[in-house]
Amino acid sequence: MSRIAYVNGRYLPHGAATVHIEDRGYQFSDGVYEVIAVRNGVLIDGEWHMERLQRSLSELQIRMPMAAAALNVVLRETARRNRFREGIVYLQISRGVARRDHPFPSPDTPPALVVTARRTPPMSARVIAEGVGVISQPDIRWDRCDIKSISLLPNVLVKQAARVQGAFEAWQVDQDGFVTEGASTNAWIINSEGHLITRPVENAILNGITRRRLIALARAQDMTVEERPFTLAEAKSAREAFLTSTTAFVLPVVRIDETVLGNGRPGSHTMGLRQLYMNFLAEKTLETD
Ligand code: PDD
Repeated sequence: MSRIAYVNGRYLPHGAATVHIEDRGYQFSDGVYEVIAVRNGVLIDGEWHMERLQRSLSELQIRMPMAAAALNVVLRETARRNRFREGIVYLQISRGVARRDHPFPSPDTPPALVVTARRTPPMSARVIAEGVGVISQPDIRWDRCDIKSISLLPNVLVKQAARVQGAFEAWQVDQDGFVTEGASTNAWIINSEGHLITRPVENAILNGITRRRLIALARAQDMTVEERPFTLAEAKSAREAFLTSTTAFVLPVVRIDETVLGNGRPGSHTMGLRQLYMNFLAEKTLETD
């Protein structure tokens, strides 16, 4: 079945869906995006994604291309037309099309909206059972990593470094030695008391929706979550570690650079948290069935 994309008001075959060469997203990375998990037509934590999208747009003074409710319809419809049970929708909004010039174009320039959707294969059971390795990399990004900007070159470079070294993710480390986050995931550790530790939400990280959801789920189980920075050294001596994102959910980390954590197998706390998140997904999906 052929894939369908939404581009500025039209649903088009994926191969025929194009944007203008003077789209400011293309020329300046002048835009934002969201990736939302979809299961059985349900946008997982869709409202939180919409909230974060609106915040990113407002920080960059880009208009919403349409009302949030209408955008929701487009997201669902794009997912529906691509017919999958488990997948993602990707949405990107740029400041629109204008002759190349750094300042904002005239205020009547409409923002450009692209939505794609695709099936995502379930994460391999072996990867979940064995956990993944991460490498550390200096964080060379800008001071507004809280904005989900399409300007991802540093993230691309560190993720590639991870791939070359056979790792799943790169944990970026700030100038004071504290871990910020992965290239496309949030970073977590668990200490000897079983406390979950993850960097607080500020400009240095993206406020991950999976992170936010997992904090709520864990606290509802009376687990202690410490939102505080942790160093790379602390991570390497942690009892357990894991990462979260819309596509990876909760994934155990068993190696950081050359350091093997614990016995090198995913820890029980992490596997419990993954199960907690998978149960949440299953419940969300049932609710509207
Ligand atoms: N990445 N940190 C960064 C830098 C990210 O790009 C992402 C998401 C996350 C996790 O956020 P969430 O839980 O909302 O997915 C953290 C998406 C999936 C991507 O770029 O593909």
